[in-house]
This record gives sequence, structure tokens and C-alpha cells, in this order.
Amino acid sequence: MERDIRTIVSQMTLEEKAGMCSGRDFWHLKGVERLGVPEVMVSDGPHGLRKQNEKADHLGANESIKAVCFPTACATACSFDRELLRELGEALGDECQAEDVSVILGPAVNIKRSPLCGRNFEYFSEDPYLASQMAAAHIQGVQSKNVGTSIKHFAANNQEYRRLSCSSEIDERTLREIYLAAFETAVRDGKPDTVMCSYNKINGTFASENHWLLTEVLRDEWGFEGYVMSDWGAVNDRVRGLEAGLDLEMPASGGHTDAEIVAAVKDGTLDEAVLNRAVERILRIIFKFADHRRPGDFDKEKHDRLAEKIAEESMVLLKNDGLLPLPKAGKKIAFIGKFAQKPRFQGGGSSHINSCKITGALAAAGQLPEITSDITYAQGYDTAEERTDPALLAEAVKAAEEADVAVIFAGLPDAFESEGYDRSHMQMPECQNELIREILRVQKNTVVVLHNGSPVEMPWAGDVNAILESYLCGQAVGAAQVRLLFGLANPCGKLAETIPLKLQDNPSYLNFPGDGQTVEYKEGVFVGYRYYDTKEMDVRFPFGHGLSSTTFQYSDMQLSRGQLSDSDTLTVSLKVKNTGTVAGKEIVQLYVADRTGAANRPVKELKNFTKVFLEPGQEKTVEMTLDKRSFAWYNTRIHDWYAATGDYEILAGASSRDIRLTKTVHFVTETPLPFHIHSKT
Ligand code: BGC
Repeated sequence: MERDIRTIVSQMTLEEKAGMCSGRDFWHLKGVERLGVPEVMVSDGPHGLRKQNEKADHLGANESIKAVCFPTACATACSFDRELLRELGEALGDECQAEDVSVILGPAVNIKRSPLCGRNFEYFSEDPYLASQMAAAHIQGVQSKNVGTSIKHFAANNQEYRRLSCSSEIDERTLREIYLAAFETAVRDGKPDTVMCSYNKINGTFASENHWLLTEVLRDEWGFEGYVMSDWGAVNDRVRGLEAGLDLEMPASGGHTDAEIVAAVKDGTLDEAVLNRAVERILRIIFKFADHRRPGDFDKEKHDRLAEKIAEESMVLLKNDGLLPLPKAGKKIAFIGKFAQKPRFQGGGSSHINSCKITGALAAAGQLPEITSDITYAQGYDTAEERTDPALLAEAVKAAEEADVAVIFAGLPDAFESEGYDRSHMQMPECQNELIREILRVQKNTVVVLHNGSPVEMPWAGDVNAILESYLCGQAVGAAQVRLLFGLANPCGKLAETIPLKLQDNPSYLNFPGDGQTVEYKEGVFVGYRYYDTKEMDVRFPFGHGLSSTTFQYSDMQLSRGQLSDSDTLTVSLKVKNTGTVAGKEIVQLYVADRTGAANRPVKELKNFTKVFLEPGQEKTVEMTLDKRSFAWYNTRIHDWYAATGDYEILAGASSRDIRLTKTVHFVTETPLPFHIHSKT
């Protein structure tokens, strides 16, 4: 049914229109019964549905309905799998339809500037291209079910410290290339129904009243057509916000700001047309949902299996000297650490899901008929106090000594990372490092399985035989871990961020999190691997790194043309062969290196990727396209993307530090640069 939105708006009173621009309560928008406008609900996500029926809050403190907790974004990004993210989105869309939720709040695409940000677990990557691809697929999946998404937190909200007031001070080029780029591509490709503006200021202006951000960039440049909502409580000046392009204030303002809008229209300071436009945008999305309701139930068990599949495709095998896969039969294997029994699989705060089921590795191993090896368990340390308990340590060491292999389930406790605050260091609790050290004394076959939303320092990395990074991998985490550890599945995730050796190596180290008033992004575009790789620094594990139980050979890279210009595309093809004995998936990454010397740029940047499944011995040709944007940087002389004339290297790699094939292409720009004449020309 095509609704005549303009006519509905024209029938509304001024008060009704102002009312539409703020929530009815914590989670609902207002409706106008006499005009058939329903009151719709929005709910948190995005790695599950946090629908609250009773007491509402935005900290995840009060209970929400039982739902399926899928892996969080820090994990799913490591799948580098657009299809998988789409599938995740479709499942969320089904849950929202079943629960009558019109918009699920997310995905969150803020860049991981520092490993310390408390919400890194909710964010995809340090790389804007990867983040944009994951987000666009997520959005398309959810919205294919006629449920809206709200890409967040727009923009430059890269820390929790003073997030309500701090100003992110960022130069134009850095903002465009790093902090806006993930939003830009996701908005253009995914077309989210809504965008959530962040709490912070950007260069002195609150995101919620930033006309440049919410209107000039988001709508005029990127073509966004949905409504912008505020993060919960992010409104500073309501009327200024409306003029800037903030359509909906959340949650309810108790009528207070509605009255401000009414007064501003009445005294002529606010053009009523601005209000009408905001209401039209909100109504269009309300009816998009309401007119396509498909009430029904969803299959929780099926979604639990999907959560397991996503977890399996997302975990990253960081190290393996040959100990993995573990023997399925005939051996004694000690699972050590509380996370084997009670895994950490999601983060704290507004995204906290009330999981309908939780499977830890210990339970999963017991349930799988393929695994008959004898599995023992020891807790290892005092989990309540997060400190060494001599008796528990002795018990764990004994269990490790008596086994053929020790698998230590380690990582960050809940309190170490959450929405609302940042970490102050990158270390695991000392009791866990001590546990690993003590076990290494008695057991030469040791695996560490990590549970964390953001990188940790791994002083023991060189001494253990294998490391499996699970991130925060959702409610089915244990089942996926066990399948990967015992070779029932082949690891295929790769890191969506660099794991530095230590916090001090991170490029934002000297300027994070600022002084509470401002935070200066002085490292510029050199974020993550853009910095580490340009400086050729040693890292613990590089961006894009991840091992498999098989090996892949890259060959025969072909470029569809030797030269291209602004409106051309370039197709890169290459062959990938599975040269091992088990089936597996490889993530092929395409980086571009600017050799023109026209600007100070990172040594390489990710511009495309693909994931390919190969049976043993099988070879496939993969293709990826590049266009002007893949070569361009944001040139502040023209306030636009610009690729200079000259040579660029196309690098195909298994990680940012494992480039397998290289070819050069010549770019010829069609964009003239202005020539500024001054006294020193
Ligand atoms: C968070 C958002 C969340 C909202 C509603 C805010 O505090 O920043 O991500 O969607 O609360 O719970």
C-alpha cells in the first residue's frame, strides 16, 4: 500500500507533529490514533534482540526477553563474509518481526582507534572498508525482512571516556578517510532506514546538532533518506538539532522538548517546513514497517545453530605449531579455566542479550559423539576475585600434568570491558597469565583459547603451542570452539584488527582518551595497520592474519586493464588453490599501495576481499573489483576524493603482512586540482 505521507502530515496539529519528533517512552515512538499512525517500538541489538517488556534502561541492567545471542561485531568482522552477515541480519529481522520491533538499533561501525575503547566488542574493525562491508550486509539482511536498522554511533565516537560531552578533534582528511568512511559506504550500499547520531561533539559541535554531518554529508552527499535518531539522551538543543537534521529524539523527553519545538514554530524561529520534513521521514519508516508486518514465531533452535555457524566462521586461529587439531580419541585432555564451563561470549551495556541458551566448551565436548578423548576440568583461579588461589592453581597444574594436552580458556572478565568506560591497560588479569606460565612448566602441549572483546597483551604467545581467538562469540561459543579445536571444522577467520605487542605501540597511545574536554586524533589517517605497517613495526599478530588446517597457494594474478581513470573499474582476478589435505576457506585480501608520491599515505590500504571455499586440491579463480575510490584519498584542496595520476600497486595477500602477488596499474586522473597562487609561489 502506498501511503500519502504528506497528506497525513498536513492533517496533523502542530503539537502532534512536534510529538512525533520524540519518543513516547524509553523504546516507543508516538503514534496518532485518529490518523492511523501506530506507536512502533525500537529495540537494542545488534548481535541479538534486547527487547524490554518491563523496566527499561539503556545500560543492559534490567532484563529483556529471552533471545538468541549471536557473536558480537568484533568476532563477526573476522569472518570477512558478507553473506554470513546478511544471514545474521535476516535472522535478526525474523526475530524483530516475531516480537513486533520496528527498528533494531545497530550495526555499530565506529573505528577501533585504540584497543582500550570499552565498546570495541560492538565495533567491527580498525579498517573502514571492512567495517562498511560487514555493516552493509547486516543492514541488507535485517531490512530484507522489512525491519529497520539504525547504523550507529554517527560519528567519531571512539571511546567511552566522557562520551557525553567530549569533542573529537579530527582533521578533515582523517575524518573522511577513516571515521566517516565506514558510515559512508554502509549508508550508500546498505541504505539503512535510520541513523543514530552519537553523544560526542565533533570539532566542537555536538553530533546531534551538527548540520554539516547530519544534512550536508549524510543526506546531500550520501543520499540517506531515512530518519536520524539521537542516541539515548544525546540531544543538547532540540530546536537546533531539528534544524541540523536530527529527526527523532530518544527516549521520551516528557513533552518538554516537544513544547520547545511548538514554541519555536510559533515565534517564527523554526520554519514549520523543517518540522514537516522530519515528521515525513519518521512516518515513512514507521509505515514501511507497519504495512509489512509478518507476525509469527521464529525457530530459536535454528537461530542457535546459526549462532554456532557464525562463531565457527569467525574465530581466528592465531598460532598453531601443529598441536591442533586435538586428538578426538584415546588421549587425556585438560580443559582449564572457568571460561571452559561458563564462557564469556558477549559484552556489557546496552547490547547485552538475555541468551536463551549458553553452550560452553566443556558441555559441548561432552555432547559431541565424535569426541571420545577423556576430558578433565579445573577452574584454575579464583574467578570471583580474579586472583590466584593457590589450591585452585595447584589443582589446575596437576590436571595439566596428568593430561596429554592442556587447553586453557582465558580472557577478559566482564568488568574489564563494557559500554560506559574504557580499559586503562591491555593486560589480562595477572592470575590468568600466572596460570598459563605455571601450566607451561609441566605441560609442553598447551593451547590458549581467548575470550575478549578487544586485544590483550600475550606475554606467553611464544611459549604456547596454539592460540585460538574466540573474541566474544555468542551463546553457542563452546560448540564452535570444540569443533575447531578437534578438527570437526577448519578455522577460517582472520583478524579485523592488529594485535600489537603492547599498548604503547598503538598510534593513539599518546592522545587517548584526551583530557575530558577534547580528544585529539593526532595520528591522523595512520590508524591500526595503516600505522604499524607503514612504520614496519613488529606486532603480535597483523591485521588480516588467521591460520587454517590447510594451506593455500595464490597464482596467476590478472588485471582487466593496465590503465584506468576516474569512471573506470578494474577487475583483479587470481587463482587460489587448496594445497593441503582438508577442505577449508581462504580470505583473500586486496590492498592498494599508492606509488605516486602525491600525498602522505599509509603504505597500503584494504580495498576489497573475498572468501573462497576449496576442497583439498581444488583451485578456483576469484575476482574482485576496484574503482577510483580504491585508489583515492580525501584531498582537502577540493574537499573530495582524489586519485593522483601515477602508478599504484595491487597487492593480494593472506594478511596485511603476507602479500602473495603484486601487479602495477597506472591511474590517470580526470579531476583538475585548483592552482593557488600566493606570494611564495
Ligand atoms: C547506547 C546505544 C543504545 C542506546 C539505547 C545508548 O546508551 O550508546 O548504543 O542503542 O543507549 O539503549
